[in-house]
Amino acid sequence: MFDQLSSFSFPTRIVFGSGAVRNLPVCLDETGVHKPLLVTDPGVRATPVFDSVVSALKSGNVPFEVFAGVHGNPVEQDVLDATAIYRSANCDGAIGLGGGSALDVAKAVVVMARHDGALADLEWQAGGIERMKGPYDPILAIPTTAGTGSEVGRSSVITSHELGRKIIIFSPWLMPKRAILDPETTVGLPPFLTAATGMDAFTHCLESLTCPSFHPICDAIAIHGLELCIRYLERATRQGTDIEARGYMLIAASMGAIAFQKDLGATHSLAHPLSTEFGLHHGLANALCLPAVMRFNLEAAQPHYARLAGLFGVPVREMTEAQAAAKAVSEVECMIERLGIERGLRAHGIPRESFPALAHKAFEDSCHRTNARPCAEADLLRLYEESW
Ligand SMILES: [Fe+2]
Repeated sequence: MFDQLSSFSFPTRIVFGSGAVRNLPVCLDETGVHKPLLVTDPGVRATPVFDSVVSALKSGNVPFEVFAGVHGNPVEQDVLDATAIYRSANCDGAIGLGGGSALDVAKAVVVMARHDGALADLEWQAGGIERMKGPYDPILAIPTTAGTGSEVGRSSVITSHELGRKIIIFSPWLMPKRAILDPETTVGLPPFLTAATGMDAFTHCLESLTCPSFHPICDAIAIHGLELCIRYLERATRQGTDIEARGYMLIAASMGAIAFQKDLGATHSLAHPLSTEFGLHHGLANALCLPAVMRFNLEAAQPHYARLAGLFGVPVREMTEAQAAAKAVSEVECMIERLGIERGLRAHGIPRESFPALAHKAFEDSCHRTNARPCAEADLLRLYEESW
């Protein structure tokens, strides 16, 4: 018992509250940044959120540069273009403002500012973690969606020009020094994106809870993250200006990403190729595949699913654990339906004949290796079929 050494750490400082972006100059000062590069995408650039961040910087007399060209699925050129501005303007820190993409580019910029090789050199599976000799300049993250949790994560996912596919850059040096969670930054997010990104957060919590790695602290965080999603995701989706729901969903998203330092599961392996091959939104892809994966995991994750049913308000004490676990699957399906997400990959334009190739890619993805129940490629193929 306990013969394997474990280590637990939760180092990101989170600044939370309505109007928290006004605290940005203080956060920059505390982290020693004098001239940041603000990294964002054209969509956010056109919103009042961008204006509020710029006015916070101006009111703090902070000189800054802007790169607003991040793509929805960020590409290496975004990083190179942003890094060129960073270097020529002598910036000494990056602020990622946006969804996971802008945050991931901001993380890559501080590394590439000091790395003369190609981005592909830094790929995690190719030994990149050894080539990243931090500390790098500080990264500050201001998420405008409540889903990926990249603001507390230590990875960045960028499409490598050289390799023609998404690569994961992973290093403790990529952990933002500050995550500024301001519910006012997410009020403009439309219902579909609120629901889809929220389902990403929900899936992070559930997959990390049910994966077999030992991390009881992450388990506790995952359980509360699930509870927050159940209580607030529908409210945030239905009424975008509900600051309480928006705030708790931002917290839930960060909790999901903190929890998944433990690991993820098969839903994420199924979701990743659906995004790279068909451009399906990552959170939506998770929502569409999660029920089938839960049924597949039903016995292996039974105590966790029974507990999830309790979080949904199911009277679990009147049931066997197996009955409660099965009820959790239908509760998740009903929640997805209430969020207005149409069920089935077919409804979202995914052709059935693509499944063998998708299953092959999903099997190459590492997330399923920590699924509650081991998966073969044939299992992943069957899970696509069941999600169709
Ligand atoms: Fe995810």
